[in-house]
Amino acid sequence: MGEETRPAARSRAVTRRHIAEMFIFGALASAVGIVLGLAIDWFPMQGSTQADAIDTLWDVLVIVSVPIFVLVTVVVLWSVRIFRQRPGEEGLDGPPIHGSTRLEVIWTALPAILLIALCGYAWAVLVDIEEAPGSSQPAERRVQVIGEQFAWSFKYKENGKEFTSNRLYLPAGESVRFDVVSKDVIHDFWIPDFRMKIDAVPGITTGFRVTPRPEAIGEHEIVCAELCGLGHAFMRQTAIVQPPDEFDAWVTKMTTEAPAAPAGGGEELTAEDGKQLFVAGKPDTGALACGTCHKLADAGTTAQTGPDLGEALKGMDAAAIRAATVDPDAEITEGFAKGIMPPNYGETLTGPELDALVDYLVEATK
Ligand code: CUA
Repeated sequence: MGEETRPAARSRAVTRRHIAEMFIFGALASAVGIVLGLAIDWFPMQGSTQADAIDTLWDVLVIVSVPIFVLVTVVVLWSVRIFRQRPGEEGLDGPPIHGSTRLEVIWTALPAILLIALCGYAWAVLVDIEEAPGSSQPAERRVQVIGEQFAWSFKYKENGKEFTSNRLYLPAGESVRFDVVSKDVIHDFWIPDFRMKIDAVPGITTGFRVTPRPEAIGEHEIVCAELCGLGHAFMRQTAIVQPPDEFDAWVTKMTTEAPAAPAGGGEELTAEDGKQLFVAGKPDTGALACGTCHKLADAGTTAQTGPDLGEALKGMDAAAIRAATVDPDAEITEGFAKGIMPPNYGETLTGPELDALVDYLVEATK
């Protein structure tokens, strides 16, 4: 009898000591984890009014998650240490354990309450950042975001006129709703500075809204966040937040000047029209702007999906440049893969447009 009670009492004391150790170590590790988690500057600038609520949500999740992670890790590590096999214990089994209803209720109920509370909070944040501007606000701008391998284009309807841009211009302080579509595969429209992203899915329209902050005036990166093919990594463009009056001036320019794509039929097209095609493409037929993927100093484009045309086309004559444009995979610049450049410029551009584009490229790459 006495032989049994003494070890039992000793084991209870040992257990209490282990729990105290775990608690102290866990509390210290949690504190360090939370301080580190909050001290590290994880995010880029807060470019939209939505960003603040999202970043706060992140901080709360860090504060709540770190102690839970630490709890699980500490219990696992301590169990390995305490219940390890000691010399002479080979082949011995541990004591039978009959569960503990009280413990099981606690470890089921606590996480459930925590999860429901965090879901409720995240839901409230989502409702908040997705809320449309009130009726007292000016009408919300809608911009269609079109994803395709491997570029974004942005379709505006301003002053009753539609036009497309390869750069996303936005006025600061005004809410904008993006209608996101895809022409081919799934892409993901992401502006990290705005904290918002959504898949562009063929066949349906998705979207989100943001209000760029006045502090965000300047350039912001647009990223494709869904692996969409060989050119995925280069599917990056620029969003430009402007003061409203500058944005209005841009809209006026886009809606009053001749449409981005030269009309083609009848009129004589010049190398200048070719440059326009290079920079802006021809959205109505799906001809992607060359400058979306190619660097060309003369056109002021800097993209790196395809070769730098100032080098790749240097000294080539019109026939060779035309061949490289309509049948891009016939001859590939070293370091670049086949199948990335659209093979259909022979169809999406009219004869005169192709001539103008080739004329321009001959001039610009002499
Ligand atoms: Cu488009 Cu990745």
